[in-house]
Amino acid sequence: MERAAHAMVHKPFPHALSLPLIAAPMFLISGPALVLAACREGIIGAFPTPNCRTTEALQQWLQEISSGYAALQREAGGRPVGPWAATVVTHRTNERCEADLALVAEYRAPIVITALGSPRRAVDIVHGYGGLVFADVNSLALAHKAADCGVDGLILVSSGAGGHTGAMAGFSFVPQVRKWWDGYIVYAGGVCDGAGIRAAEVLGADLCYMGTMFVATQESQAQAEYKEMLTQCGPDDLVVTKAFTGANASMLRPTIIAAGLDPDNLQPRKEMEFRGQNSNQQPWKGIWSAGQGVGCVDRVKPVAALADELRQQYARARARHG
Ligand SMILES: Cc1cc2nc3c(=O)[nH]c(=O)nc-3n(C[C@H](O)[C@H](O)[C@H](O)COP(=O)(O)O)c2cc1C
Repeated sequence: MERAAHAMVHKPFPHALSLPLIAAPMFLISGPALVLAACREGIIGAFPTPNCRTTEALQQWLQEISSGYAALQREAGGRPVGPWAATVVTHRTNERCEADLALVAEYRAPIVITALGSPRRAVDIVHGYGGLVFADVNSLALAHKAADCGVDGLILVSSGAGGHTGAMAGFSFVPQVRKWWDGYIVYAGGVCDGAGIRAAEVLGADLCYMGTMFVATQESQAQAEYKEMLTQCGPDDLVVTKAFTGANASMLRPTIIAAGLDPDNLQPRKEMEFRGQNSNQQPWKGIWSAGQGVGCVDRVKPVAALADELRQQYARARARHG
């Protein structure tokens, strides 16, 4: 069914960037070092608030990120500094949702991303101080629901993504949302080089998410063995399963085998559950994730080196194809 456009004018993104890119928020992976390294490179640095075990720990991170960000802006000398973003899990079982939202608002996160639940609670709070709300969605139905809540941007999680993946091909997802949505679109799923970032723009997106490629950076919090595994694995080493979190997630087969499980006979969990998500008892402990871009991870490198490569690839794609 055709729907009316929500925002009639497609506004340019208000923050200057060196690439239309978000270093995507990743559970246990994205911390202040990765966020600030991304911002320093003129891209958006994001982290999910559950990476802090408590709301008090979140306050320390927010303090570190906002003072680090202010320092980057002072030292930038005219180069763009990307804004930072915090993802709040708005699923009904996340007991910390209200407290985390209040805190990211206190620190005036330039962008608040909502995941796994309705963005409604975030919209008034974040718009109250002039921030942007982006909702992470993986279907047209959820895109419509989020748009109805008044968000500024939709993150279209498509097939091939790391973490909780989508089922829709991005080539179909972006244009079918663009038909009725004039707000920002972030394309997510398998983007692994600068040409992919440009391709997403050509498709109709404003920005791209890139997760997997940032797991293998020096600034990510991933264990060294995890980063190394990404340099060895390809898309055939991935299993998409509901067994660990209750939602379809793209997991590395070798880590499932190492946990004593059969990757081809996993039992799906019936429901998502975020109570006690940082506990050591969680079924996903030790099970590592990647998206289909994993085959592009050649070595572990600093964020600055990855960003340099991406900028060069992006510039070549623009020169070749406009
Ligand atoms: C290891 C890992 C953990 C992730 N954790 C989260 C998370 O906690 N919250 C979230 O919104 N997305 C999470 N994601 C998804 C990313 O934000 C993003 O959608 C995805 O990485 C994009 O696909 P790509 O990995 O192919 O670039 C995670 C992805 C990975 C690879």
